Amino acid sequence: MRFSESFIQRVRDSSDIVKIVGEYVQLKRRGRNYLGLCPFHNEKTPSFNVSPETGLYHCFGCSAGGNVFTFIMEIENLNFTEAVQYLAEKAGIPVEYEGSDREQQARRQAQRRLSELLELVGKYYSHLLKSAPEASIAREYIRRRGISAAAATSFGLGFAKADWDDLITVFQSRGYSDSELVKAGLVLPRKNGNGYYDRFRERLIFPIKDHQGRIVAFAGRKLTDAAPGPKYLNSPETEIFTKGAHLYGLDLAKAYLRKGEPAIITEGYMDVISLHSAGFQTAVASMGTALTVEQARLLSRFCSQVLIAYDGDAAGTTATWRGLETLAGHGLEVKVIVLPAGQDPDSFIRTEGAEAFRKAMAEALPLTDYKLSKTITGFNLERHDERVKAARAVLPILAELNGAVAREAYLNVTAGMIGISVGALRRELDYYEAKLRNVSQGKRNIFPQTRNNITATGQDCSIVESQTRPLSEVAMLKLLLAKPELLGRQFTTAELKFFTDPVIKQIIEAMLESASTDQLDPAAVVDRLAEAEAKKLLTDLIFSKELAGFVENPHDCMAKVRKHYFQEELKDLTHKLINIRNTGQVAEIKQLTLNYINLYQEARQTFGERGDGRWPS
Ligand code: GTP
Ligand code: MN
Repeated sequence: MRFSESFIQRVRDSSDIVKIVGEYVQLKRRGRNYLGLCPFHNEKTPSFNVSPETGLYHCFGCSAGGNVFTFIMEIENLNFTEAVQYLAEKAGIPVEYEGSDREQQARRQAQRRLSELLELVGKYYSHLLKSAPEASIAREYIRRRGISAAAATSFGLGFAKADWDDLITVFQSRGYSDSELVKAGLVLPRKNGNGYYDRFRERLIFPIKDHQGRIVAFAGRKLTDAAPGPKYLNSPETEIFTKGAHLYGLDLAKAYLRKGEPAIITEGYMDVISLHSAGFQTAVASMGTALTVEQARLLSRFCSQVLIAYDGDAAGTTATWRGLETLAGHGLEVKVIVLPAGQDPDSFIRTEGAEAFRKAMAEALPLTDYKLSKTITGFNLERHDERVKAARAVLPILAELNGAVAREAYLNVTAGMIGISVGALRRELDYYEAKLRNVSQGKRNIFPQTRNNITATGQDCSIVESQTRPLSEVAMLKLLLAKPELLGRQFTTAELKFFTDPVIKQIIEAMLESASTDQLDPAAVVDRLAEAEAKKLLTDLIFSKELAGFVENPHDCMAKVRKHYFQEELKDLTHKLINIRNTGQVAEIKQLTLNYINLYQEARQTFGERGDGRWPS
């Protein structure tokens, strides 16, 4: 689903950035701008600027910057679509989608109705839990499991009656058709083909919500061991529910994650409820299955550290293992809380207390330590041959480590754990890595760019990368910002290829795309920028003082950009030629030489007889 440009524009124009930011930051007028304490990093003196004129904000402390959409995205942890929806709603603009062909509109409509239905059903179930006489068995169950009334309310717990047709009857009378109830996963067709029956019967109901707190599905737990069916019954996949796409409890955990606390990942509904009640409000659950890539990605939007708190038995399985790798693969710092076998966080807290859990959290093992100890436990270290096998088994884990210090430390610890000498283990590791290198040769990245400074939360506020951007390109960008009337006239897309800095190039490209008149709407440019880096640079320049008086001859400025481009390209080709001249790769050498000659000629033509590379006037 995509929004049309005009819709996005309308929402942006209707959202007063000073008012929106003002809901989170105390702003004071300062000249044409507003100033306050940056919400994205800790500071004592305000350096967070908001400009009603351009619709942009920028922090000179941490270089965060963007427009209303990026602000809401960052502060509320929403993606772009969600941020647009959120602000549209706030501004009272009905949401419109691009293409708005009938099928798509109908689907949206159906989803909305499904969503409404689930909210109503959620209310109905929780109403039953509170007041239906038949629900006394559930109320007793909740009491026995130590769920407080407050927790039951905040998680929206409910009760489904034992009847086969309670929900159907109630919701039919509210105007919902059988097929709608089937699509919602709430009822099923009877085997004999005659009518339908309720999916959830005599169960404690856990509404499953998306991270914005909207019900997308239900889970129902049976209230006695003897009751028929599985312990937990889940809604099937529907138009709005995909298995493995949600994390139970994230809607409530979100606010706490934003404070920088690590997420606690558990397996079950009860674990989340117990943990929240005991004061660990960043707990979420993967809901039984191994953590999916989608869940990892979702979580990485809200935090940068996670603690895994699985049942002591589950913690060793390959599914868990894969889940941990998935999390680490999404840039999350992973630690493992080791619970006694047979205990899950819920039972652990109830038997040992919240303090014991806090202690277990503090003692959580970094992923590497956990992997090492789990791997080594699999071997009988009394035996010489098993020790050799153990040493081999840990090599892939050690090889992943970055940094000499970490590596040294782990080599020592690991050798000690296995009972072999550090020297021997180090030699094994060197040999293993040499082999790895041989395999992956040619795949090495020759441009180890510093792209990793942006944390998963996108709120990294130390000044990101002390860039060394080509001065000529920065100057040209400033000039275009100061004189947008050049865009599309003297300065066209043909000039883009001369920009070597990808971020500057991206910004200028976005400016060219959005400049229709002499006016440039910087807030609209921001929406065309994919990278945070580009947004930061753009707002940094716009809010910088020098821009107002930035005068430079555009021809001279562009000439410098071109000159720099040719210099860099020729240098690059020269290097490549030097590198392969003795390899006997005749065809490649020929091609590179040809490229060199062509580029050289192009450079000469560009700079013309005058040699100044200026625009032809
Ligand atoms: P309690 O027994 O109520 O404490 O639940 P638990 O969370 O400790 O259960 P368990 O460790 O057995 O399972 C963990 C999670 O897996 C549950 O919270 C459910 O999300 C899921 N799960 C467990 N059993 C079933 C089942 O029979 N069917 C389905 N669909 N999911 C289940
Ligand atoms: Mn349990």
